[in-house]
Amino acid sequence: MIVDFGGGFFLRHATADDHSALCEVCLKTGDAGNDATWREDDPALMGQIYAVPYQVLEPDLAFAVDGAEGVAGYLFSVLDTKSFNARLASTWYPALQQDVADPGPDQPTWRNSDWVRHAIHHPNFDIPEALNAFPSHGHIDLLPQARGRGIGRRCMSFLEQQLALAGSTGLFLDVHPRNTDAQLFYAALGYERVLTPANSATSMFMAKVLRPEHRCC
Ligand SMILES: CC(C)(COP(=O)(O)OP(=O)(O)OC[C@H]1O[C@@H](n2cnc3c(N)ncnc32)[C@H](O)[C@@H]1OP(=O)(O)O)[C@@H](O)C(=O)NCCC(=O)NCCS
Repeated sequence: MIVDFGGGFFLRHATADDHSALCEVCLKTGDAGNDATWREDDPALMGQIYAVPYQVLEPDLAFAVDGAEGVAGYLFSVLDTKSFNARLASTWYPALQQDVADPGPDQPTWRNSDWVRHAIHHPNFDIPEALNAFPSHGHIDLLPQARGRGIGRRCMSFLEQQLALAGSTGLFLDVHPRNTDAQLFYAALGYERVLTPANSATSMFMAKVLRPEHRCC
């Protein structure tokens, strides 16, 4: 499976060989869409939550965007968030917890990647009820050289088709409230904000109903 976006950019399935590149994209977009390199002391750790498990646990819906300089982005989704979270809880997080020390509950003492270490030891797999109509969720992150070329729109359209074909009725994204560029991007694609009691300083949900017409382009 390869989608040619033009300009030397292509979409293809991600593989295990991409893990370090996927972690790098995660790091370089991990500060509400901007480069988080300045903040993290373990450059691969965010990717162990937000990138690698998607390729490992849901490989059919894990894609890399290739550019002239290598991997320039990724597109991940899971068909059923509840079942994916159950697999994270039973296998992925317990393995990570073996390798990473818990920084403890005292948030003011956390430094650099400690927030990720804390999230690894105290994951929150709750899904707000307001998202019940949207069983699937996704992530898209493109490096600067791949942005503003229509690739994001084409990726999301492709993903919506894949999910609708697989029977999904809706897709949600968890967007950082400071990431207004991403919010405007999703709004341009027809995603609407879903208000939940769980909305917090770090989480905001945008979602779209997937209808049978999403199954064809
Ligand atoms: C957000 C992101 C995926 C968008 O992808 P992109 O390829 O740059 O977006 P596109 O060029 O496909 O734009 C699609 C539409 O969104 C609109 N859009 C994109 N960014 C926008 C912005 N900052 N403000 C307003 N509209 C925007 C475009 O105008 C375009 O509308 P049109 O097709 O009607 O002209 C990409 O910029 C990115 O990865 N950013 C950094 C990481 C990130 O924030 N990821 C999302 C985390 S939730």
